[in-house]
Amino acid sequence: MLVYIKENFDDMSKAGARIVADLVRKKPNCVLGFATGGTPLGMYKELIRLHKNEGLDFSKVTTFNLDEYVGLPPEHDQSYHYFMWENLFKHINVDRRFVHIPMGMAQDIDRFCEWYEAQIEKAGGIDLQILGIGANGHIAFNEPGSSLGSRTRIKTLTGTTREANARFFKNPDEVPKYAITMGVGTIMDAKELLLLASGEGKADAIAATCEGPITAKWPATIVQMHRYAFVIVDKAAASKLTMKYTD
Ligand code: F6R
Repeated sequence: MLVYIKENFDDMSKAGARIVADLVRKKPNCVLGFATGGTPLGMYKELIRLHKNEGLDFSKVTTFNLDEYVGLPPEHDQSYHYFMWENLFKHINVDRRFVHIPMGMAQDIDRFCEWYEAQIEKAGGIDLQILGIGANGHIAFNEPGSSLGSRTRIKTLTGTTREANARFFKNPDEVPKYAITMGVGTIMDAKELLLLASGEGKADAIAATCEGPITAKWPATIVQMHRYAFVIVDKAAASKLTMKYTD
């Protein structure tokens, strides 16, 4: 695990974008795993800038998103489909046919999840999976207690996650109770991981992830077992780390 501590959100975002851009340049037909939420927004802005100013080419890239709320149609402004198109995809030259985001409106969710796993496999696996982290240590929507070997499936969101995400909804009761999420095992199969975290609210989760024992209580701690994991955090998120790291 390579841990980089950056001065602030902007520096974290740029460092993350550099890793993604290097891969896209080296392997134009790479498979990228994307996350939603506030954390990757700065990195997505930087990728858009690199596309517009430096011609970073996404036309051959295949994408898989980590998760989606159950019951929200793609056009809902809080769906992760909407988030990805608004904040990244519509600003770059990604090919719509190569974009995969779990379908929150799937009729048969179990079958959909099997199909999603099969699509990842068919694409040759994910080359680089981008991750945020919940204050409770979740990755994607693998809440504390999730099996560390889990695959794509439906999960019930915890009260704390629903509260954290209520900031995006008009009314907290509108936050869905369930999500389709890649499993911890699915994430661990990616060839490289890039976990970003910003702000003091993530400090406990980052301390557990980088220095704590591996436990399903903090699902992100499994990242310690990955052979090629980058963890890029800002100073506030790093504030509870005790070991020495690179900046
Ligand atoms: C989103 C996702 C979540 C978020 C996490 C942090 O696709 O998988 O695990 O990464 O909840 O969210 P933010 O970045 O909003 O703090």
